[in-house]
Amino acid sequence: MAAEFDVVVIGGGPGGYIAAIRAAQLGFSTACIDDWSGADGKPAPGGTCTNVGCIPSKALLQSSEHYEHAGHAFKEHGIDIAGLGLDVARMLARKDRIVTQNNQGILYLFKKNKVTFFHGRGAFSGGSAVAGWRIGVEGAQKSELTAKHVIVATGSTPRPLPGSAIDNERVLDNAGALALSVVPKTLGVVGAGVIGLELGSVWRRLGAEVTVLEALPAFLGAVDAAVAKEALKAFQKQGLAIHTGVRITKVATDATGVNVEYSDASATAQTVRFDRLIVSIGRLPHTLGLNAEAVGLKLDERGFVAVDDDCRTNLPKVWAIGDVVRGPMLAHKAEEEGVAVAERIAGGQPHVDFNTIPWVIYTSPEIAWVGRTEQQLKADGIAYRSGSFPFLANGRARALGDTTGFVKMLADAASDRILGVHIVGPMASELIAEAVVAMEFGASSEDIARICHAHPSLSEATKEAALAVDRRALNA
Ligand code: FAD
Ligand code: NAI
Repeated sequence: MAAEFDVVVIGGGPGGYIAAIRAAQLGFSTACIDDWSGADGKPAPGGTCTNVGCIPSKALLQSSEHYEHAGHAFKEHGIDIAGLGLDVARMLARKDRIVTQNNQGILYLFKKNKVTFFHGRGAFSGGSAVAGWRIGVEGAQKSELTAKHVIVATGSTPRPLPGSAIDNERVLDNAGALALSVVPKTLGVVGAGVIGLELGSVWRRLGAEVTVLEALPAFLGAVDAAVAKEALKAFQKQGLAIHTGVRITKVATDATGVNVEYSDASATAQTVRFDRLIVSIGRLPHTLGLNAEAVGLKLDERGFVAVDDDCRTNLPKVWAIGDVVRGPMLAHKAEEEGVAVAERIAGGQPHVDFNTIPWVIYTSPEIAWVGRTEQQLKADGIAYRSGSFPFLANGRARALGDTTGFVKMLADAASDRILGVHIVGPMASELIAEAVVAMEFGASSEDIARICHAHPSLSEATKEAALAVDRRALNA
């Protein structure tokens, strides 16, 4: 099949499918090509996020948290559960159903918005900005498309540990770690980043003895230091063993497990044996099979598609967004770039503010932040005031039985403009939205302090942190 489109999007993850929908909304004839297949071989658009990332990990985090609460927290509420059981197969089946619902939801949205979907691998085969770019699709059906504009949204893949192949039997990437059919007795995790902490938490809650091996000397070095300290304390109390400053020298698998040799911060050599090992040491841009060379699409020195601030590549009318370009590897960042590019193609001048992209780690306690950390402000020589408020002093948190952590607000010493908000504690993922709105609107800490917040709610902790910037918290 040969067809011509105004916009062809290669990749149907959160960056690509959202870009395609927005382009179609703006009146462009739009196609989206995605190669992900479900277990049944059917199209499964949604990319890493929907299939082996955001969605399935949050499904398992929720299930495992219920299990942990039922086993440990309910008692305090006066609820006794006899014969608590765990059916991992049912838990995984629920997660898989949620993934499939999301895949089908995206296919429905394509139909609704008149986006033509191609299931298969898209690769540049030639063309130009003047004649139109040519994209070949290899799938159940072969197609040759011509596009006035191309948006590359091919995402990322797990970074392997040198010398240790991912087999998803014993050495697991994110896909394998989301599909373990039995709770391992011992689980090693290489990398104390977002995936390591989220998926390490899932399997610890379900009964695994989890050891996290992190190369850097500091735990969560990119996070505000006070938050990282509080989170480390909480994770260790839960039973996560976290070793920093680790250098892994050898990983060897055998029939029943994995032996990991490493040296720790004191350079002492250690060998530890795990039933399973998760490798979560970052992700790499995914450009394999795109045939970027055919058109001279430029990659940067780290293999990302090279783009400017507006996601323009070196080729006219070829754009790139999401994990395959610089910047944080987050679904919502990919989505924002997708919308912005579609609007730029339509002649608009949208702007994505990287300073107000929120980060969330969905552990318990949750960790969420937006803007700059205290250590960054110090390093940049910016004068600031800081206010913190502990959940221990928040009525709703006490009623929930979840009082770990705090909200911390950083504001410019002269103008009082909010420069960063850092939360560790219950529902931090939801609470951070207020801080993002505040920063987008250039709010001061006093603005938040003067806004009426519902009582009793966790959001009162944000208001109190704002009051604390001016040393006038009311409840602490
Ligand atoms: P992707 O989602 O990777 O999608 C790219 C798509 O393009 C894929 O379907 C791929 O198969 C397809 N593709 C690639 N090449 C071609 C080709 N040549 N032709 C056709 N199709 C192609 N982010 C968050 O914001 N919140 C979270 O809670 C979160 N949790 C995560 C948990 C895990 C375990 C992981 C691994 C990631 C998580 N992320 C999370 C990160 C998030 O998944 C990514 O940032 C996001 O998926 C990037 O979107 P994307 O559209 O750029 O790429
Ligand atoms: P990450 O970048 O978050 O963490 C990787 C960690 O591995 C770092 O702490 C790094 O120092 C460490 N590391 C690197 N090499 C190592 C080695 N050889 N030995 C030991 N440790 C080593 O990457 P991660 O966790 O793989 O996740 C990838 C991306 O996916 C993240 O950057 C994030 O953007 C995204 N993601 C987002 C989530 C969310 O928003 N909640 C959830 C999960 C993933």
